[in-house]
Amino acid sequence: MMRILITGASSGIGLQLARDYLAQGHQVWACGRDAARLAPLQAQGATLLCFDGRDAAACHQAAEGVPALDLAILNAGTCEYLDHARAFDGALFARVIETNLIATGQVLAAFLPRLVRGGRLALVSSSVTWLPLPRAEAYGASKAALDYLAASLRLDLAREGIAVTLVRPGFVATPLTARNDFPMPGLLTVEQAARRIRHGLARGQLEVQFPRRLIWPLRLLGALPSGLWLRLCRFLVPIKDSTP
Ligand SMILES: NC(=O)c1ccc[n+]([C@@H]2O[C@H](COP(=O)([O-])OP(=O)(O)OC[C@H]3O[C@@H](n4cnc5c(N)ncnc54)[C@H](OP(=O)(O)O)[C@@H]3O)[C@@H](O)[C@H]2O)c1
Repeated sequence: MMRILITGASSGIGLQLARDYLAQGHQVWACGRDAARLAPLQAQGATLLCFDGRDAAACHQAAEGVPALDLAILNAGTCEYLDHARAFDGALFARVIETNLIATGQVLAAFLPRLVRGGRLALVSSSVTWLPLPRAEAYGASKAALDYLAASLRLDLAREGIAVTLVRPGFVATPLTARNDFPMPGLLTVEQAARRIRHGLARGQLEVQFPRRLIWPLRLLGALPSGLWLRLCRFLVPIKDSTP
């Protein structure tokens, strides 16, 4: 039986992970901002922690009641696209960076001391970081920062006996992607995504990325010279008219 913390457990991938781990008999601390959205997990046996990851004091307060953890999955996140790059929306950019990156730092500060030697930290990034995509300036930058954060933390936490896994999902059908107005190749269900994440973590993988049919094309295109991708992108990725 593992003691598992999951952020962003009120919806989508985090909710499915929490359900699956509870069904397997693990002890789960389910985090989110909205108690009502988390409530069904309490009925399944989870302990609920309601806090906003951007609020350092709230993170520390939430961590006070949490004992030792074997696994922490920092999954909470948001996605907003920039529609008009030239009329750069600084507020949107700040919102996405604060939720996906700064809040991750606040949660790490509060909960990392709870992870036991032999434990594992998982950061949920995105397959977007394989390839720069139009309109993804804020989301992609926040997730690229998480990639580096995970890679750097892995080196430092190895000395403490804590492993770090970077999770980079492709498209998964959740409320976050329900807003997307473009084709989502390789779209998975939350059940499929959660299964791949759980299996990858159980195997001790340093990186969990899926599905292959999306990841490999992204990796290949991402390896092209920037000028070639600039020319190819307009044929491969439909870009909306960005005139404000
Ligand atoms: N779905 C995909 O295709 C996809 C692909 C790649 C990566 N991802 C990543 O996977 C993670 C989960 O995405 P999802 O699709 O499952 O999204 P989702 O259904 O929208 O769930 C997002 C979760 O994050 C929580 N959250 C958002 N802002 C928060 C904040 N400030 N403080 C605390 N919790 C906050 C939400 O909780 P409350 O709003 O209830 O507080 C919710 O539980 C995200 O990091 C996302 O970037 C998703």
